[in-house]
Amino acid sequence: MGAHREQWNSRIGFFLATVGSAVGLGNVWRFPTVVVQSGGGAFVLLFLIIVLIIGVPVIIVELTLGRRAQKNIIGTFASLAPGSKWWMVGLFGLAAVFVILSFYSVIAGWAAIYFVGSLLGIFNGLATEGLTVLYGEIVGHGFLPLLSQGIFMFTTIIIVSTGITGGIERWSKLLMPGIIIILFLLLGRTLLLEGAWEGVLWFLRPDLTQVNLSVALSAVGQVFFSFSLGMGAILTYGSYLSPRENIPQSAVLIAFADVAIALLMGLVIIPSLFVFNVQPEVGPGIIFVTLPSVFNTIPGSMIWSSLFFLMLTFAALTSAVSLLEVGVAYFIDARKWSRRAATIALGTFIFILGVPSNLSQGAWANALIFGRNFLDLMDFTASSILLPLGGFFTVIFLAWVWGTDSALKELNRGTSSFMWGNAWAFVVKYIIPVAIFYIFVSGML
Ligand code: TRP
Repeated sequence: MGAHREQWNSRIGFFLATVGSAVGLGNVWRFPTVVVQSGGGAFVLLFLIIVLIIGVPVIIVELTLGRRAQKNIIGTFASLAPGSKWWMVGLFGLAAVFVILSFYSVIAGWAAIYFVGSLLGIFNGLATEGLTVLYGEIVGHGFLPLLSQGIFMFTTIIIVSTGITGGIERWSKLLMPGIIIILFLLLGRTLLLEGAWEGVLWFLRPDLTQVNLSVALSAVGQVFFSFSLGMGAILTYGSYLSPRENIPQSAVLIAFADVAIALLMGLVIIPSLFVFNVQPEVGPGIIFVTLPSVFNTIPGSMIWSSLFFLMLTFAALTSAVSLLEVGVAYFIDARKWSRRAATIALGTFIFILGVPSNLSQGAWANALIFGRNFLDLMDFTASSILLPLGGFFTVIFLAWVWGTDSALKELNRGTSSFMWGNAWAFVVKYIIPVAIFYIFVSGML
């Protein structure tokens, strides 16, 4: 056990860092996109139910494992089940880190380009067609997106290399309030648009005829991605948690904050689509084409679109930091690297790994693997294979190997009365493994 293992300085610091990990590209474009694809209010309702049944309990699982073991993603399994092969679950997590961060930094780089581009006014006055062309030119430019991806990774490296309290915690305390202030400014602006309330109603009123299995499946995927679950990011942050902290309460607050921000993001984006009657595109198009075209129809478009892309870049940054930290924590604990060396080496490696994803939007667009370009392949591998498998085995490990009794003992260190302890144990033992297994299998078929 490292006597020098860092701990969060304050409860609010831990909270903002964890919410910072959760809130990212997943909230800002993935959530509104799946809502639109999956029938509006019905999806939102299912999403909320799955947050309660799977999301919150799995946050508790990861925080408890991390705090108990005080180790990185691989060391946690190794130390709670010595001599077994369970550490290999951690390998999934580590693999997922590399894969996710490699393409995440590419998209984050686009957000940064769009921020600067908005400030320079290059999107001014363009309608959807013009913006679509410009989007293709920007992501396919070659040098520019590589430079932006590099700067983004470099910033992530700087933050992670300065440690838990001095880097991650401090930056989260700075960036998260910024994100929230910008979000409310945007919200005020879009809700004042004439006709916005129709979109609000569509967004919030569940049409139960839209509920079906595939909607439920995409809701589960969204909860995992949005809460940063399934690959040890929350687990690693839990390993810096003091025994005094009340884990169930933290889990509820983290989930609440992430969901609230996703819903508010939806309220910024979806009513605007209604007002301007635009057909939302699937994927990144919704934020890089549709939204700028909406901004262009309101006065002061430069300001609004700069604010939006600044917020997106910040949100991606605090998520990228949590991804890199998972890998860095492993190389510090297990390989005895210095934090500085680990961050620089891993960050550089992940940057290089992201280059094919970056080029796959331009120069290499025709190189398809299993019918997908490289970026989509990375996204698919991570979201549909590594995360569900990692999440499944993590939950099985806690419930059936380490045991819910040991877990409840650890949980009750920070709270004398985890009222829902037995319900949580039941859900973790039976409901969640079955649910994830089912989703994984049907997702693969
Ligand atoms: N949750 C982040 C988002 O919504 C992305 C993210 C960060 C993530 N860390 C993760 C996703 C770990 C899965 C696993 O954008």
